Amino acid sequence: MERVAETLTILQPEDKEACDLPRVSEEELAIGKKRLYIESYGCQMNFSDSEIVAAVMRNAGFATTGTAEEADLIFLNTCAIRDNAEQKVRNRLKQLNVLKKQKPALLVGMLGCMAERLKAKLLEEEKIVDIVAGPDAYRDIPKLVEEAESGQKAVNVFLSREETYADISPIRLNSNGVTAYISIMRGCDNMCSFCVVPFTRGRERSRDAYSIVSEARDLYENGYREVTLLGQNVDSYKWSHADDTEHVNFAGLLERVALVHPDLRVRFSTSHPKDITDEVLYTMAKYDNICKYIHLPAQSGNSRILKLMNRTYDRAWYIQKIDRIRAILGEDCGISHDMIAGFCTETEEEHQDTLSLMAYARYDYGYMFAYSERPGTLAAKKYADDIPHEVKNRRLNEIIALQRNMSLERNQRHIGKVQKVLVEGTSKRSDEQLCGRNDQNKMVVFPKGNLRKGQYVSVLVTECTAATLIGEVVD
Ligand code: SAH
Ligand code: SF4
Ligand code: F3S
Repeated sequence: MERVAETLTILQPEDKEACDLPRVSEEELAIGKKRLYIESYGCQMNFSDSEIVAAVMRNAGFATTGTAEEADLIFLNTCAIRDNAEQKVRNRLKQLNVLKKQKPALLVGMLGCMAERLKAKLLEEEKIVDIVAGPDAYRDIPKLVEEAESGQKAVNVFLSREETYADISPIRLNSNGVTAYISIMRGCDNMCSFCVVPFTRGRERSRDAYSIVSEARDLYENGYREVTLLGQNVDSYKWSHADDTEHVNFAGLLERVALVHPDLRVRFSTSHPKDITDEVLYTMAKYDNICKYIHLPAQSGNSRILKLMNRTYDRAWYIQKIDRIRAILGEDCGISHDMIAGFCTETEEEHQDTLSLMAYARYDYGYMFAYSERPGTLAAKKYADDIPHEVKNRRLNEIIALQRNMSLERNQRHIGKVQKVLVEGTSKRSDEQLCGRNDQNKMVVFPKGNLRKGQYVSVLVTECTAATLIGEVVD
């Protein structure tokens, strides 16, 4: 029972920012080199960008460290998606100020979405910051560091229409050596009215398909067994060869990556309901190694609110997408969502529509948020943020409670069934247990035996919580 209580907390309100937990760079051999500490906030794309930054900095003579106190240079790779994401970083800067006082030569740089949103204003607001670099300026960081070393404040927040860092081999940080992320596109051309991303990450652009496939192949050859293709809107991936002889859409890219090796699992995130096509769903069905799991953010279950959000689909369209997924990939396909509670003018009935959409979709998992107004967005300009804090939170808690019940119910479906699991490492709770994910992205925990990470094993599920499947290895 204790385990149940512990794992259920994943879906508690205080964990709704689970994806905002920072990641920290690791210790590298640093003889004769300067030390860089990177702390990353926000989404997987930011984590993946930190791996690009580590690669750029290695060429400039820096080794990463996992301890801020040992660093000559500290980067915070920041997120601006909600106000509390920014507050977290502001608080961290206060702590780092203490370090800087002890070690005046220490340089502090702000990277990522908050850097892009606030630009040079950050230098005025946060005196401790020496360097500000937006998401498209990471090749320029060594130069910015040199400028800062000579005592000037250094800023580059130029957003590019072309930059994809296609030629840079990321240095895998926080890696388990089994699963890795591959960034396939950058930016976003959608204008969801609540969202700051189009302003912080610029225009959408897709990365060269060959460089993506070759990164996947390198990872496979180095022992990795799962790649997740990343973008704000992967289904609008579109790349053409310079001589215009070849055009690759997302379904085509998925197929190319799936063909790297049948033992390399392929996942992807995020899908926009307006762009995911039957062709993508059929490609998923065709290849066993493309995982049957789709992250399909809804944001609301009400058509009027979806219109105000500028999501470009309505409730009926979203439901029809869920139906297509179930028709082509079956009942077992994992589906997760993002949902926003208390968007401008949302009524109780409209909130009920969100709950009823969730019940219809039978989601396996969800990322759920209270609406947070972001300066400069369409919603901030056009609509009043008029839902009181307590109401937003109450609605959010209802959404979370429903999701918790559904997650448990969806997990119970697996009890008594054998799952193919890719071993990722030792379970957080016990050295005697291993953990890994099944096809639907669910964490499975089972006794260690003689297994190694990177192996595929068959696990018979015997019990579950809302967050984890528990089982034993069978032949
Ligand atoms: N590209 C993805 C989402 C990226 S942001 C998509 O289109 O679905 C991740 C999630 O953060 C969003 O799906 C949304 O649910 C949430 N989010 C974005 N802006 C927000 C805001 N202003 N307030 C609360 N949640 C927000
Ligand atoms: Fe933001 Fe919408 Fe783009 Fe997602 S699709 S990043 S929510 S603007
Ligand atoms: Fe945050 Fe930027 Fe990602 S705002 S969610 S780090 S794209």
